[in-house]
Amino acid sequence: GAAAARAALESLVVDVPDFPEPGIVFKDITPLLADHTAFTAVITALAAVGRDESGAPVVDKVVGMEARGFILAAPVALALGTGFVPVRKAGKLPRGTHAVSYALEYGEATLELHRDAIAPGDRVLMVDDVLATGGTARATRELIESCGGTAHGLAVLMELGVLAGRDAIGDLPVATLMTV
Ligand code: PRP
Repeated sequence: GAAAARAALESLVVDVPDFPEPGIVFKDITPLLADHTAFTAVITALAAVGRDESGAPVVDKVVGMEARGFILAAPVALALGTGFVPVRKAGKLPRGTHAVSYALEYGEATLELHRDAIAPGDRVLMVDDVLATGGTARATRELIESCGGTAHGLAVLMELGVLAGRDAIGDLPVATLMTV
């Protein structure tokens, strides 16, 4: 369960100092992904956010945010018996989209979602690797709501606690396997 997932995270998420820039400590999840037991434990724990107390799935879709969110959200969707929907960076999705732009420390980012990927009334679980400022999650929530869907919650591997990303997302359940 969650305890196994947390133990896996501790040993298999590797700190890489000064990547991609001096002063940044990058959290490399590729050793975790390469370990079948650990990857399974993490997917099971993230998928639990989309279940009720009896274990029944309560979401209609799972959304993953480019790029590392895709790797986690797709198996979570299969575990829950739902479809997977990508939220992508600007210009990558080929058909009609909703788009949301938000401020970064330097500049701006835009995320897009196919307009027909979420049906009105759909309950949607958002899955990503890291919650930092919350900008990505907040924009994704807005995209889901633009389609008429409801954000059920956010499940992430890691939360950068000091950045208080939760506050940026509004009133939404956030489940994290590790706070760093
Ligand atoms: C990272 C991470 C989250 C986001 C979290 O993605 O995977 O999606 O940043 O940061 P926030 O809470 O401050 O928005 P990144 O933009 O580096 O994209 P990538 O996965 O394509 O490398």
